[in-house]
Formats: sequence, structure tokens, C-alpha cells
Amino acid sequence: MPQAKKRIAVIGAGPSGLAQLRAFQALAGQGVEIPEIVCFEKQANWGGLWNYSWRTGLDEHGEAVHNSMYRYLWSNGPKEGLEFADYTFEEHFGKPIASYPPRAVLFDYIEGRVKKAGVRQWIRFETPVRWVTWDAEQKLFMVASEDLNSQTMTVEMFDHVVVANGHFSTPNVPEFAGFDGFNGRILHAHDFRDAREFVDQDILIIGTSYSAEDIGSQCWKYGARSITVSHRTAAMGYDWPENWQEVPLLHHVDGKTAHFIDGGQKEVDAIILCTGYQHHFPFLEDALTLRTPNCLWPDRLYKGVVWQDNPRLFYLGMQDQWYTFNMFDAQAWYVRDLIMERAILPDFEAREADMALWAAQDAAVEDDYQAIAYQGSYIADLIALTDYPSFDIAAMNAVFFAWKKHKKAGIMTFRDHGYRSVLTGAMAPAHHTPWARALDDSLEAYLRNND
Ligand SMILES: Cc1cc2nc3c(=O)[nH]c(=O)nc-3n(C[C@H](O)[C@H](O)[C@H](O)COP(=O)(O)OP(=O)(O)OC[C@H]3O[C@@H](n4cnc5c(N)ncnc54)[C@H](O)[C@@H]3O)c2cc1C
Ligand SMILES: NC(=O)c1ccc[n+]([C@@H]2O[C@H](COP(=O)([O-])OP(=O)(O)OC[C@H]3O[C@@H](n4cnc5c(N)ncnc54)[C@H](OP(=O)(O)O)[C@@H]3O)[C@@H](O)[C@H]2O)c1
Repeated sequence: MPQAKKRIAVIGAGPSGLAQLRAFQALAGQGVEIPEIVCFEKQANWGGLWNYSWRTGLDEHGEAVHNSMYRYLWSNGPKEGLEFADYTFEEHFGKPIASYPPRAVLFDYIEGRVKKAGVRQWIRFETPVRWVTWDAEQKLFMVASEDLNSQTMTVEMFDHVVVANGHFSTPNVPEFAGFDGFNGRILHAHDFRDAREFVDQDILIIGTSYSAEDIGSQCWKYGARSITVSHRTAAMGYDWPENWQEVPLLHHVDGKTAHFIDGGQKEVDAIILCTGYQHHFPFLEDALTLRTPNCLWPDRLYKGVVWQDNPRLFYLGMQDQWYTFNMFDAQAWYVRDLIMERAILPDFEAREADMALWAAQDAAVEDDYQAIAYQGSYIADLIALTDYPSFDIAAMNAVFFAWKKHKKAGIMTFRDHGYRSVLTGAMAPAHHTPWARALDDSLEAYLRNND
């Protein structure tokens, strides 16, 4: 039976879920009547991965710790590539700031927009969603959630569900022969917290993507003795410091000796598996569950957000991410407009055809530059469908291209560069201390001397 007022469940209050709340609030600000929004968040605060926790493993309630970030983490891309089109860095900080903010600065920025929007009362904190099913008869979703403090389960019906629980939290953890007898620590990037733990140690890293590059760089910066990075497909190929080497895939370990498939070996004190994450939706029934690797075009999502087999269900932020915050916004604005029936959903076949086009373009992507341009054109496609403030995507792609070149020129110095905001036109000032020597990652330290 239809409900008097539409009810929308948003699962997760990270950047994606918060984008959904902000999208609805923006419409309410224009005097439009919006549905009832309930955002379920399992943590005690908003911000998703940006809400740092020292904990690893299970939290105080016995829930899996969501956080995969670590101390001293600075943005790995320029902030000019993730700027909200409706809330600039300059509006938030009152002045231009340098281009690679540490986690605490980005958390502050994310929080600033939603504090201004006044949407916190829509969120039920410490309330994970446990189970979602589709009731075909009522044409409603049943959502079961648990209040972790009172330990009570609530079952409610919703017209739409927006899944925004992120996909960089459940680790992908391969095993290599001899791990059970390794005389040192083995951990996944998800559980890495403080590079100082590895001072004076020889570290082996498995994987070659952003976690491998950044955790290796952290360990180097804070004083590890050596970094060895083992690759399955190809080496990263940067001009690394002299105590850093890239080697083929690990074959097995014996005591503290790592043996690689080319016959090489290295004594190591710790092994950090930077082997990526899994899309993980233990709270969704099978028919609603997205199954995908980490890629630019996950299958079965029309416009990257609408679940093809039940278009009342939406996913946000499930793509591999060059663009982040502004992509989540473009998605959330479009989802909002579908729910509000301000945007028309094409029929099943038209959606299939559109998805096939995007999948074919994705398959033709040959390098990182094309991947950035592809994701940029995806965002442009979404923005054209809504009233999300338009911005110059070609100029933002160019920021990412410059970033790629700066990394190639100096993997330990690229964060010392500044870029021009596509939104305000302001040039970012240089940071007061080169990244390699900036050991204090606090908001206060980062914003100092930028006046
Ligand atoms: C180590 C690391 C560093 C990164 N650095 C950058 C960077 O520098 N720049 C950048 O732009 N991006 C970075 N990212 C990418 C990151 O994915 C995005 O910035 C962003 O956090 C994604 O937002 P999200 O809301 O989709 O997911 P998340 O941030 O993961 O938020 C999901 C939220 O859902 C909640 N949740 C999960 N399950 C449930 C449930 N069952 N019920 C209720 N709530 C639930 C979680 O508690 C969490 O708050 C980084 C990612 C990682 C892992
Ligand atoms: N400072 C920062 O901002 C920062 C820091 C860290 C991470 N991040 C973000 O976190 C997200 C996730 O990055 P990620 O690097 O964790 O994951 P990812 O990009 O999905 O990369 C996974 C890596 O693991 C390797 N791998 C997977 N299974 C393997 C196996 N069995 N054996 C050997 N190698 C294996 C892959 O190798 P193949 O290439 O062979 O498949 C790939 O190199 C990204 O969005 C990134 O931007 C940001």
C-alpha cells in the first residue's frame, strides 16, 4: 500500500550518503516539499572513511571497524579535483589553501557543507542496517536496522533505498605460502594506522595501486629502513628513493625471508597487503546485491546509480574513483530527481542500451588519462540531467593530468605543487613545508602560514 509521504532510506553517512542528504536539502531550500529521509549510519559520527578511528578489527559494539584511513594521510590527488561545486574550499576556509590537504582538513571541509545544510537530524547514528528486502506486493522495501546502544531492532518500510556504504572497507586478503610461519607482522592496508610502527624495519608491500604507493611512502617518510614492493601485474615504475625497490610477485615466505617468483629474496620484518577491497553488502538480499570488481563501470547500474533490475534501489559511489566528492554529488542529485519524478527514467531496454554504450567506452579505455576523461564525461552526462551547479569538466580533467605528470616527475615531491580552482579561479598557495618534511598532519599545522 503506498505510504502517505514517500520514505527514503539512505545507508551510510560518508561523502556519498551526505551528498544525498544535501541534494534533498537543496531542493527543500527552494521551497519544494521533499520526502521523509532516514539516513542510517553505523558509526557514531558522519564522514565515512574520513571519520578516523584508531581502532582496528572490531569496534566497541563488536562491529567491523569501517575506517581504512591512517595517521598522516594526506589527499593523494589535488583538492581542486574533488571540490564541491556548491561549496568551495574558499567558502569553507575563508582563504585559498594548499592543494593536498591531510585527512583532518578534508573531514572539516566535508562536515562544513552538511553543517551549513542542517541535515544532521536526518541521521540515526550507531544504527547499522542489518537486512533489506523488496516486498513486491506492497512495492516497498523492508529495512531492518539495529540501534547499537539499546540493542533493539527496528523494521520499517521505505519507497526507495539508496546504498551508500562505500567499497573501501572490507579488505581483499590473499594468502601466500608460509604466511602461517612468518616471524613478523602481517597486516592488510585496512588495519594500517601509524607508519612510526615500522621505523627501522624492512617492509614488504604487496600490490601496486594507491594504498601500496602511499603506505610505502609513509613508511619511507617516517623512517622505515627499506621498502620492497611486490607486483602481480606490473611495477609502478616511479623514480623511488634509494632504499626502495620493486620486485615480482611474492612466491612464499620462510621464517623472515620473502621469496619472489623470479628467484629473488629479501629478509623482511613486516608484510603489508595493499591488495584492495571488496564490494560488500551483507545487508542486501541476493536480488538487490551489486556484484562487481573495483572498476569504472560496474555492471547493472543505469547511469552508474540505478539498479537495473529494481530501479527503486540506488547505489552511490560504487565506481573506482578518480573523481570523488563531486562525482558523488552528481550521482546524488540525479537520484534525488528520479525519486522526485523531476527526471524521467527510460524503460528497461533503453537503459540496457545506454549501459552498453558506457560499458563499451570503458572497455576501450587504455590508460589513466583516458580513464580520467571517461569519468569526467560520465559526470558531465549526469550533471546535464539535474540542477547541480555545472563546472568546467575539461579544466578539472586537466588538473588531474597535471597531477599525473607531477607524480611522474617526483613521487615524493608531487604534493608540493599547487593548482588553480576550477570553481573560483584562485591559485592554491604553496604549503609552508614540503610534504616529505611535514610530519604534523593536524588541521592547525596545515592551515598555518597560509594567511
Ligand atoms: C585509505 C584511503 C584513502 C583515500 N583517500 C582519498 C583521497 O585522498 N581523496 C579522495 O577523494 N578519496 C580518497 N579515498 C576514497 C574514498 O572512497 C572517498 O573519498 C569517500 O570516502 C567515499 O565515500 P562513501 O560515502 O562512498 O564511502 P565511505 O566513506 O566508505 O562511507 C560509507 C559509510 O557507510 C557506513 N556504513 C557501512 N555499512 C553500513 C551499514 N550496514 N549501515 C549503516 N551504515 C553503514 C560507514 O560507517 C560509512 O560511514 C580514499 C579511500 C581510502 C580507503
Ligand atoms: N592518501 C590517499 O589518499 C590514499 C591512500 C591509499 C588509498 N587511497 C584510495 O583507496 C582506494 C583503494 O586503493 P587500493 O590501492 O587499496 O586498492 P586498488 O586500487 O583496488 O588496488 C588493489 C591492488 O592490489 C593488487 N592485488 C589484488 N589482489 C592481489 C593478489 N592476490 N596478489 C597481488 N596483488 C594483488 C592489485 O594488483 P593488480 O594490478 O595486479 O590487479 C592492485 O595493485 C583508492 O580509491 C585510492 O585512491 C588513497
